Amino acid sequence: MTYRIPKHTDFQNTKILVVGDVMLDRYWFGDVSRISPEAPVPVAKIGKTEHRAGGAANVARNIAALGGQAALLSVVGEDEAAAMLEDLMRQDGIQSHLLHQADGATTLKLRVLARNQQLIRLDFEEFPDSDSLKQIDRTYLNLLHRFDAVILSDYGKGVLSNVADMIQAARAAGKPILIDPKGSDYDKYRGATLLTPNRAELKEAAGAWHHEAELTEKAQNLRRRLDLEALLLTRSEEGMSLYREHQTDHQPTRAQEVYDVSGAGDTVIAAMGLCLGAGYNLTDAMHIANAAAGVVVAKLGTAVCDFSELDNALSDSGNP
Ligand SMILES: Nc1ncnc2c1ncn2[C@@H]1O[C@H](COP(=O)(O)OP(=O)(O)OP(=O)(O)O)[C@@H](O)[C@H]1O
Ligand SMILES: [Mg+2]
Repeated sequence: MTYRIPKHTDFQNTKILVVGDVMLDRYWFGDVSRISPEAPVPVAKIGKTEHRAGGAANVARNIAALGGQAALLSVVGEDEAAAMLEDLMRQDGIQSHLLHQADGATTLKLRVLARNQQLIRLDFEEFPDSDSLKQIDRTYLNLLHRFDAVILSDYGKGVLSNVADMIQAARAAGKPILIDPKGSDYDKYRGATLLTPNRAELKEAAGAWHHEAELTEKAQNLRRRLDLEALLLTRSEEGMSLYREHQTDHQPTRAQEVYDVSGAGDTVIAAMGLCLGAGYNLTDAMHIANAAAGVVVAKLGTAVCDFSELDNALSDSGNP
């Protein structure tokens, strides 16, 4: 099997609109040497802090790293986390359309770590109000025609409340629309081009399977019922499987070392969207997405794969 090898220029001219729930991942690293006199809890003296753009923002980061043009549409609050997200997007060259909801809170996950162990995670989040959702829909319809493909990144925090309308609009405009799903009700994703669940997500939507043939049947039934062009199941160490009409393809993982698997799913949908937006077929897109995922799991932290790393991975001999 020979696959298409991507050219940098293919991606440079490809514009992807990412819509979905954004979040800021914040890490506070501290030293713990005593127990608080106030309550039986450790006292952490904070030294280093780190920030990363998460959720849909991480998908946009992955597109920019691969050399594509990414825009991000989401809702944030009017707070310091929102300013930080905008700053991070600017640094990565991502066009951000972050709607600021008055009095709203930006989704924030604050982790306090000491000696490489998490002491606690503090979550801040708020469902967008109806005005913000209307504004998302309006902005989406205004932006859609400028892009080659749309990626919806659903983390269940409300930005994709009107996902069915978004799919219809993208289809009517002839744009591929790819969705990283959430929850057990997939009917709202009907008509999308591609869904990219992981194993746990597919199990939640379609039920458990006991062997490969049963998995294939469940995946194909779901795909047909939802009128999807394809369903891409990401299977962690087992690689990924692509289900299409009359066709099921599997690729083993290309990862040779695995350090940190967080965010690999974002890399997969980013690469798939960029390839479909650039006019690649699903088989070539899957091959490229699998290679990009292999690169990111070999890095620490929520990492991205840049174009030269992808190019190296694809030209490495001895790989599938
Ligand atoms: N442990 C692993 N070993 C090898 N490859 C892996 C591993 N985990 C992930 N990958 C690669 O990354 C791809 C996506 O990973 P996975 O199926 O875990 O997605 P995910 O659960 O959505 O990830 P996340 O939500 O953490 O971003 C896999 O298809 C595979 O190519
Ligand atoms: Mg995922």
